[in-house]
Amino acid sequence: MTRPENHTVHILNGPNLNLLGKREPGIYGARTLADIETDSIALGRDLGLEVALFQSNHEGGIVDQIQAARDAAAGLIINPAAYTHTSVAILDALNMFDGPVIEVHISQVHKRESFRHHSYVSLRADAVIAGCGTQGYMLALRHMAELLKTA
Ligand code: DQA
Repeated sequence: MTRPENHTVHILNGPNLNLLGKREPGIYGARTLADIETDSIALGRDLGLEVALFQSNHEGGIVDQIQAARDAAAGLIINPAAYTHTSVAILDALNMFDGPVIEVHISQVHKRESFRHHSYVSLRADAVIAGCGTQGYMLALRHMAELLKTA
């Protein structure tokens, strides 16, 4: 299957990120997933990208979203949350996606518990952003715009 010749970017979010804003705000900040969606659609418009945001608390749900992106998105930004550190299934799904993949973590995972230091997704990701707070999604979008220009 060939990658869609479009400027659509999907932002995928894993478990517990639906509770951003309420969830451990000292680590993850005050902004909600709805805020991130609004900001990323607006920034995407400036960058010439159409942005769609998804979230699932289930590993299979994220795999389904990655598979769907094969036909629908030119690039993927993904914060797999806790599945980052455990999921071969998500890595396998990403390996079937042809476009650029950027991995985002809100927190600086390397400053945290050692089980957060390993990422299966980093074996596929073209870039990794960690520790920039929710602003990391905006940095990822700016970098994605550059990657898609040269793709
Ligand atoms: C996270 C970091 C993960 O270790 C954690 O399980 C999350 C969020 C982050 O965005 O910093 O749920 O991916």
